[in-house]
Amino acid sequence: MQGQALPGFRDFYPDELALRNYIFATWREVARRYGFHEYDGPPLEPLELYTDKSGEEIVQQLYAFEDKGGRKVALRPEMTPTLARMVGAHAQALKKPIRWFSIPQLFRYERQQRGRLREHFQLNMDILGEASPLADAELIAAALDIMRAFGLGPRDVQVRMSDRRVLRTLLLGRGVSEGQLGAAFAAIDKSERDPKDVLAGKLREWGLGKRETDAVFEIAALRGLDAVLTALGKVAGGEEAGEPLRQAVGALAAMGLGEFVAVDLTIVRGLAYYTGIVFELFDTGKSLRAVCGGGRYDGLLKALGGVDLPALGFGMGDVVLGELLKERGPADQASTKLDAFLIAVSGEDVAPLLKLAHELRDRGVAVEYGLRPAVIRKQLELAAARGAPRAIIVGPDERAAGEVVVRDLKAGAEERVPIAKLVQGFFH
Ligand code: HAM
Repeated sequence: MQGQALPGFRDFYPDELALRNYIFATWREVARRYGFHEYDGPPLEPLELYTDKSGEEIVQQLYAFEDKGGRKVALRPEMTPTLARMVGAHAQALKKPIRWFSIPQLFRYERQQRGRLREHFQLNMDILGEASPLADAELIAAALDIMRAFGLGPRDVQVRMSDRRVLRTLLLGRGVSEGQLGAAFAAIDKSERDPKDVLAGKLREWGLGKRETDAVFEIAALRGLDAVLTALGKVAGGEEAGEPLRQAVGALAAMGLGEFVAVDLTIVRGLAYYTGIVFELFDTGKSLRAVCGGGRYDGLLKALGGVDLPALGFGMGDVVLGELLKERGPADQASTKLDAFLIAVSGEDVAPLLKLAHELRDRGVAVEYGLRPAVIRKQLELAAARGAPRAIIVGPDERAAGEVVVRDLKAGAEERVPIAKLVQGFFH
């Protein structure tokens, strides 16, 4: 068939859009509870906004082209650089800490697979102008409360937390050099997916000896805050480096969210700009990709030529979340639900039916009726097919008495209801 959507792009049929709207509404509701304000930016941006700071992986996935004015442009693959630019431009005037959220559609030319498309919507929640680890805990709590609002608990999802400052301190303390840190981060990032000998080979290419390579794997295997703090206790500057992570984990426990949290140093994150605590949210079976990922990016605003503001945030995509909700979330988040279907007994009843339908709609009641003349049986069939809970039958005899018949389409019971009562209070 002609005219299909491009690979990795979605048509949203009403059921799919109902799920999307339910996701967006829940995102907005939790963001509101946390005192975040909504913003947006342009979907098309100057290419250079991404080429320097986002990191190689995302740059390779850009939808980039030259516009008719000869400008190099790209569809936004993420929101963080746009946010950094917007805040940077008005930083003096904005009251700190800035707590903003957005739900942009993003575009990445990726290989299409489960949970990974070429466009997706992503909730972004960010705090700018706050260096305290309570801000890190605040954002992780918001991400977890979104999961809870969808009915998911610690048996369904876990947040895996790490801190690039911790990784850095541990690696330097175990003999890895500054110049080798990037390679060591990459090996730790891939340590759950790639075979150990392949990773060891890559580390050797970067000049890491056996002792340092072993240290990289030992660090990657650390699980839980206590194990990480113990390891930090054995290297220079370790205690200081572990403090933000310790405080953020403590704050989450104080909020009663401790059961969701797993300290796990294999969370490095692909994007280049992260500087501190980083985290990802996964389904506990880890059968899906990360639902959400984020962290602290204290250097990005300055690097983009703006002010020097600490910043942190996360992105939560609608694709993986949608998969998760289809598996375990609350069922049936259907779109529009009809309150009633109106039925005209004869041609004479059509005009009074239209009047009644319009009055009900004015009062916020969702009603429908057949758009062409049909016998009552056909109209009742249509009412059932549209999922209406009741039919309102407008006929000459009842009309003469100022009434209609309301039939419960599930139970089959009927009652005569005065039209005035129907309009004024039956549905509320
Ligand atoms: P990210 O890890 O690239 O982070 O994306 C965050 C989330 O968006 C992922 O966990 C995933 O659920 C979803 N996502 C990403 N790419 C795709 C895709 N191709 N198809 C479907 N879903 C996808 C960022 O983008 C950071 N800018 C987030 C952030 C905000 N960091 C700080 N503030």
